[in-house]
Amino acid sequence: MPDRPLRIVHVVGARPNFIKMAPLLAACRAAPAIEPLLVHTGQHYDEAMSGAFFRDLGMPPPDVDLGVGPGSHARQTAGIMTAFEEALDGLRRRPDAVLVVGDVNSTVACGLVAAKAGIPLVHVEAGLRSRDRSMPEEINRIATDAIGDLLFCTERAAVDNLLREGADPDRVFLVGNLLVDALLRYRPRWAESRTLETRGLAARRYAVLTLHRPANVDDPDMLAGLLDAVERVSRELTVVLPAHPRLREALARSGTDERVAAMPGVRLAPPLGYFDFVKLLAEARVCLTDSGGIQEEATVLGVPCLTLRDNTERPVTVESGVNAIVGRDPDRIVEAYREAASRPAPRPCSPPLWDGHAAERIVSILETRLAGASAGAPEREVACLAS
Ligand code: UD1
Ligand code: UDP
Repeated sequence: MPDRPLRIVHVVGARPNFIKMAPLLAACRAAPAIEPLLVHTGQHYDEAMSGAFFRDLGMPPPDVDLGVGPGSHARQTAGIMTAFEEALDGLRRRPDAVLVVGDVNSTVACGLVAAKAGIPLVHVEAGLRSRDRSMPEEINRIATDAIGDLLFCTERAAVDNLLREGADPDRVFLVGNLLVDALLRYRPRWAESRTLETRGLAARRYAVLTLHRPANVDDPDMLAGLLDAVERVSRELTVVLPAHPRLREALARSGTDERVAAMPGVRLAPPLGYFDFVKLLAEARVCLTDSGGIQEEATVLGVPCLTLRDNTERPVTVESGVNAIVGRDPDRIVEAYREAASRPAPRPCSPPLWDGHAAERIVSILETRLAGASAGAPEREVACLAS
């Protein structure tokens, strides 16, 4: 154990970050050798996109709230960098590491600041690659991994991507998936959600849809085509659509909000709290999504997932047989929906180490690998799980 606890700054900014960070923070708080500090960049700020998750997941309020908010990529990333640098400078004790998760603008912004300040950078969910550089997330992933000191991966393909790109194998660890930690940890809470009853839905008699990728919602023609597909599916099965703010804005901008509101088979809803959303997903007949995390949750829950994209950075979800990459062509989406709805539900699949213990593995590696930094002693060796 080091002379003093390792001070690790944990960064969150957007909805999926809060969910992944909750089990990790709990594990850090239980580890005497770690003193976690929580920084919220303010990238997501609505009650339904941020505050509700802190409350439901029992997360402590952030120690520092940068309050940056929305903006173009450059403006938002730069705003977070400036505010985070000031926040780090304002700390009385220099942190032993900065830990970022996922692929959002907050991830790369804070990663860059940490790396340039010479503070060890830990990236959780490293190595995922869609190989589609038109996705802002792909740029964020590549950049963060390139400057990360410890790279924690959710699946084997991510490890392979990093090694192929020249990452030092001694810094790459296959640890499992924090989103799955959350799914299992909070199962008793989401299992008791009454959201189906409240919405008058019966298990397996509806589909869940989420859409928020810029390539899908910001282009009015693409959005119109996807809505055609949704309308056709909704004539056969009720579609519940908890709308991300980006989708809401895109519907309003393109004047299609009234069209969606008028679709009798579509239930438009605000973004849902985590417990209600997972319950809704777990009981769905099928899920249509362009989310990253929902592909993983559907895999573990065994809910047929149709990914409305041309690629995925999470290939293990496809190898599991639960997730299919169906693209954005309306005919293809309707056909894929009919195929999925006509088959028995796939078996839930837990890829290697998606067992609810990723947070503990991360904490144990942090304790060992950062101990030298805190005590001024050389780093001790641990077995690299990637090898
Ligand atoms: C961001 C991430 C994306 C992630 C998603 C999770 C980047 C580049 N993108 O996308 O990878 O999948 O979060 O949900 O980091 N808005 C609100 N209220 C909020 C938050 C956002 O109204 O609480 C609106 C704002 O007008 C904003 C727009 O949504 O301009 C988009 O928000 P932003 O954080 O820039 O990107 P997301 O689409 O949410
Ligand atoms: N989620 C939620 N409420 C919703 C939609 C999604 O709690 O209305 C959760 C979902 O269970 C998953 C995470 O948000 O854990 C996925 O976030 P999102 O799709 O916004 O981002 P991505 O994973 O694509 O980066």
